Amino acid sequence: MANLLLKNTIVTALLCILFFKGINSTEDNACIETSLCHCALNDNKYIDLSKLNKSDSNYNVTSLGFTYFFFPCRDVAFDPSPTLPVAKVNNTCISGASLCLYNEANHTLTNLGLASEGKFMNDYPKTLHFTHENKETSIVLECAHDYPDAYLVYSSGSANSHNLILFSMYSCVQMGHPGLSIGSTILILCATIFGVYLLGGAIIMHCLRGARGSEMIPNLDFWSSIPGLVKDGTIFVLGGCNPMVVSNAETYDRI
Ligand SMILES: *[C@@H]1O[C@H](CO)[C@@H](O)[C@H](O)[C@H]1NC(C)=O
Ligand SMILES: *[C@@H]1O[C@H](CO)[C@@H](O)[C@H](O)[C@H]1NC(C)=O
Ligand SMILES: *[C@@H]1O[C@H](CO)[C@@H](O)[C@H](O)[C@H]1NC(C)=O
Ligand SMILES: *[C@@H]1O[C@H](CO)[C@@H](O)[C@H](O)[C@H]1NC(C)=O
Repeated sequence: MANLLLKNTIVTALLCILFFKGINSTEDNACIETSLCHCALNDNKYIDLSKLNKSDSNYNVTSLGFTYFFFPCRDVAFDPSPTLPVAKVNNTCISGASLCLYNEANHTLTNLGLASEGKFMNDYPKTLHFTHENKETSIVLECAHDYPDAYLVYSSGSANSHNLILFSMYSCVQMGHPGLSIGSTILILCATIFGVYLLGGAIIMHCLRGARGSEMIPNLDFWSSIPGLVKDGTIFVLGGCNPMVVSNAETYDRI
């Protein structure tokens, strides 16, 4: 009886771990900023915009007389003259900006954010959000697998709030190096030990006891009791891991 209880506990514990691990890995988790332009999701996934940090180019988009200039991952002392006429005063991008807004009407440049002000938001798809003084700018990171560069698209805007979209393969969530999570390592370890146990057990049963066929499976009575235990375990997990549910189900079965 005590033995059965122990086996029951082990099987339900395993089921609970697998069940909750499953929930955990499908969840869209927070992207934690690890360095400028780089954030880490769980399961070794990440977003890394730093490949767009090229000193010789910028991403820009013009809409309704306004041009947005984006210099990913760096601050640029921006002065587009003589390509564009720039008013001599009020250029707040000249001191360094990662995101700068040019106004065609009065030739002014407005700083919308420094590289260090770009924060990864946890909405989906991920957004790089800049807050600079009273100005808010969101750049939605739209994954474009086949596009090795990037293009900036205007979405909407008002005086102090701007929304852009950055299409790029670097906007995509990428898989990290094939490092294994703790969960996977434990799972592989368990599977290996189980394989050795089954194979070794079968050889011992065969050679020492002359067992044949299914008799070769070590602890056959235990393994044949698994389907029942799995049923109990499933009821237990679905019942929110409440021990009352299993005992009720068992009682119900007996009646
Ligand atoms: C705007 O971007 C284009 C490429 O998309 C580039 O050729 C052009 O030089 C940029 N404009 C400025 C003023 O940097
Ligand atoms: C981007 O490049 C500049 C030089 O071009 C460098 O100073 C800066 O650290 C780079 N930023 C990142 C996040 O790699
Ligand atoms: C532009 O600069 C002038 C003088 O430097 C200042 O009086 C004015 O308020 C500034 N305008 C804006 C919109 O910042
Ligand atoms: C330029 O125009 C914008 C609106 O179009 C305005 O907000 C800004 O204050 C103006 N800048 C100057 C220096 O006049």
